Amino acid sequence: MRKILVTSALPYANAPLHIGHIVEYTQTDIWSRFQKMRGNQCWYICADDSHGTPIMLHARQKGISPEALIAAMSEEHQADFRDFRIGFDNFHSTHSDENRELASLIYERNLAAGHITSRRIVQAYDPEEKMFLPDRFIKGECPKCGAADQYGDNCEACGATYSPTELKNAYSVVSGAKPVEKETEHFFFKLADFEDMLKAWTRGGHLQPEVANKLDEWFEAGLREWDISRDAPYFGFEIPGHPGKYFYVWLDAPIGYMASFKNFCRKKGLDFDEYWAEGSDTELYHFIGKDIIYFHALFWPAMLHGAGFRKPTTIHAHGFLTVDGQKMSKSRGSFIKARTYLDNLNPEYLRYYFAAKLGSGVDDIDLNLEDFVQRVNSDLVGKVVNIASRCAGFISKRFEGRLSAELPEPALFKAFTDASKSIAEHYEKREFSRAVREIMALADKANQYIDEKQPWVVAKEEGREQELQDICSMGINLFKVLMVYLRPILPGTAEDAEAFLNLDALQWDDAHTPLLGHEINKFKALMTRVDPKKVAAMVEASKEDMQAKPQKAAPRQKAQDAIADTIEFDDFAKVDLRVARITRAQAVEGADKLLQLTLDLGGETRNVFAGIKAAYDPAELEGRLTVMVANLAPRKMRFGVSEGMVLAAGPGGKDIFILSPDEGAQPGMKVK
Ligand code: MSP
Ligand code: ZN
Repeated sequence: MRKILVTSALPYANAPLHIGHIVEYTQTDIWSRFQKMRGNQCWYICADDSHGTPIMLHARQKGISPEALIAAMSEEHQADFRDFRIGFDNFHSTHSDENRELASLIYERNLAAGHITSRRIVQAYDPEEKMFLPDRFIKGECPKCGAADQYGDNCEACGATYSPTELKNAYSVVSGAKPVEKETEHFFFKLADFEDMLKAWTRGGHLQPEVANKLDEWFEAGLREWDISRDAPYFGFEIPGHPGKYFYVWLDAPIGYMASFKNFCRKKGLDFDEYWAEGSDTELYHFIGKDIIYFHALFWPAMLHGAGFRKPTTIHAHGFLTVDGQKMSKSRGSFIKARTYLDNLNPEYLRYYFAAKLGSGVDDIDLNLEDFVQRVNSDLVGKVVNIASRCAGFISKRFEGRLSAELPEPALFKAFTDASKSIAEHYEKREFSRAVREIMALADKANQYIDEKQPWVVAKEEGREQELQDICSMGINLFKVLMVYLRPILPGTAEDAEAFLNLDALQWDDAHTPLLGHEINKFKALMTRVDPKKVAAMVEASKEDMQAKPQKAAPRQKAQDAIADTIEFDDFAKVDLRVARITRAQAVEGADKLLQLTLDLGGETRNVFAGIKAAYDPAELEGRLTVMVANLAPRKMRFGVSEGMVLAAGPGGKDIFILSPDEGAQPGMKVK
């Protein structure tokens, strides 16, 4: 019996789960359920990732304490997980005593070993809120193209990257104030101390090959010191001996894996050290998304090593979920929350669909909604469940629920049980799509068998009772083997099947034991077809979700811009301002802030990209009049050429106000 500890990344306690998250938790859950069915001891551990600036600010905006916010979010997350049948053995929080103790311990051991240093650095600071600002909390105009309302690190309009100090007219998203630069002491983890260890470790079979290659690039770029501290105000753990300094959320987040396990050990009377001490012979697996590889494959093993703990056995990274071939989008209704899915559809469908698509690599996986309906209906309802429903009725009605004492086709049964080894290997290697393919090929075989034997014909002929019972018993037995193989993916359906088959929870080796002379229960439909209307309803509800969503705190009116230098009338006259009608407004693929506007200038039309998406719903713009700069040189943007500019006031975000002429103005009229 192997002793296995497996984790999924800890979801941020700042937002509800969406179906992208569900890819990861489903992948891990299938693997962990498979291990348990094999008779291994496997603990699946998770927690909420509850620290950091966004959580602190989110709570403040709601007028509640961060503790209250994370408690509410934890409830919500756990309800979603439960309903998707994600079978954690323990779900904890990084804001816990266990995590505080372990984070301090790991920090102190690394400090004592000389792996932590401190120095003074300059950072952007919000003088009104009296807080340092992460890049994401600073906005301004792009230093390259001038686009308004861009984040502190890159421009959505032209794709430029820069540092927040380069932004023009920068403002704090928290207060609207202009950030100043301020010096402060920070603590750093000396990652380069671990270079040799990490180089050997990342090539030691602990990572997928494509991930190990990616790490080579990072090694070449050089291992930089990692900033592990943040200044108050911050929601997290204070660094021992340094009041006002906090551990950066990503320092204590992975330690949350240990903390949740420690919490579990206390409840269960397990030995924590058996799993975490240096030299432990238990197995430790982390399932993560490809976006957080750096943290898990470099910082995490280094921190553990520096503190004298064991390192992970392997790290399994997966790709990102796209919906209908595109990034999940709130306007298209493809940013689907876990709860919105659950309100409309059976979780087993999605678990199956993801499994059918998941391999061991880091490729993105696509949820194609049409294919989803088709595939689930044809595979699960049309093939698997169909086998049982074609045979069960006869067994209950004609044989009082009793199966034959012998199987008529031992060779066919053996073909099914022989597949056990290769399907198990696919599961073990996380090649779930291959496992599914093999299982479905077996389901086809079972249906072929029933098609050939035609029990519904046999049932009508006298003297063929035994034959009928044998055919149906064979069908039920094949169905049982399939349910063993599908159980990691479909725990809910398996549970219903176990009740129908009158069996205890199926284990992997049960595939080999035929049910002979066994009494089964009355069959109830195990699964209904996916209703495409429900899928459409889910997409609709996801669109509504967005409108109902409370907007992020708007920046307060930023300090009044000074009036610009005086100009002559001629200078002003150079600007050709025209009344324009917005004939079309639409979101721009891949741009969070832009709307593409088609403007009618009384005969002539113009294409303009405007950074007003957060403030306006495209539908409410169509048909209205506004004012535009008609003689602005065309500007090439990432998404196309912008031929002019619409006039608007306001600091940005959702506080943007487009100008409108009074009634009677016509498209094309000059404004002067
Ligand atoms: N809190 C960190 C993880 C800390 S682990 C010590 C975090 N949280 S998250 O909520 O943003 O993401 C949790 C996991 O879900 C990550 O592994 C992330 O890669 C994964 N996914 C988030 N969006 C996803 C998709 N659209 N598709 C697939 N997985 C996605 O990162
Ligand atoms: Zn730009």
